[in-house]
Amino acid sequence: MTRKSEAQINPKAAQAAAVDVARRVGALLRRHLHASKHAHEVTQHDIKLDLDVRCQKIIEKALLSAFPQSALLGEEGVAGNPEAEYRWVVDPIDGTVNFAYTIPHACVSIALQRRTPEPGPATFEDGYETIVGVVYEPFSNELWTAICGNSARLNGRIIHVSDRRRLDECIISIGFAKTRENLEATLPYFLELVHKVRKLRIMGSAALALTYVATGRFDAYIERGIRLWDIAAGGLILECAGGVFWREAVAGAHAYRMIASNRMLRKQLRVPN
Ligand code: IPD
Repeated sequence: MTRKSEAQINPKAAQAAAVDVARRVGALLRRHLHASKHAHEVTQHDIKLDLDVRCQKIIEKALLSAFPQSALLGEEGVAGNPEAEYRWVVDPIDGTVNFAYTIPHACVSIALQRRTPEPGPATFEDGYETIVGVVYEPFSNELWTAICGNSARLNGRIIHVSDRRRLDECIISIGFAKTRENLEATLPYFLELVHKVRKLRIMGSAALALTYVATGRFDAYIERGIRLWDIAAGGLILECAGGVFWREAVAGAHAYRMIASNRMLRKQLRVPN
């Protein structure tokens, strides 16, 4: 066996490890939903909990010890060799503000990415592609999984995006990322779209919004200023469910504007610059 193949990560083994640790962290979130929570950073539109850091540490320990050739890029910091061929992209609690306010709409999001020598349409701007995506919502026990090139699944069952093509029949979700600039850029489009669709929804977890599009619950999700750890796992799950995961890098580390949609809607939607 060559050095290179020794370093290869089997996507199924990676998915199993990510599911295992996502379920463990999810159980911790379930136990803490109604407990008092300590925030170490609070801004007008964001809260960072000690539990975010604790959960990321659990994920980091599990995944980097199982796959020492990988690194980790998470909302709560990075670990391992930044030049590694493989990296885990992790949001330990996506929907932290919901969780802090005891709203049971938050999830654990874990993606495995691999650096690719030949960039294609699925390649992120820094040269990585997502090969495994796991999103776990512990309050309703919903687990979404995908391995690149295979079907996306919810609790083991194959899922597909919706086939709605008329905006006036659609539910579109919008995310308002944390800065004033993002809010102000997005609001005019919100006001325009609200009259064209059946419903707009702002749920507070981008990773879950992407899985909802993948499952056909929402028809699209739009956000400007979203970060990679919020969308890496859900983006792959969406693509594997037949959806379109359009994104473009914007100013800021690992920041994007994105439109996630079923195949029918992409051209009818835009995302503010
Ligand atoms: C946030 C949520 C929210 C989105 C923000 C994200 P966090 O992630 O996904 O829905 O609008 O842009 O930052 O802070 O809860 O992990």
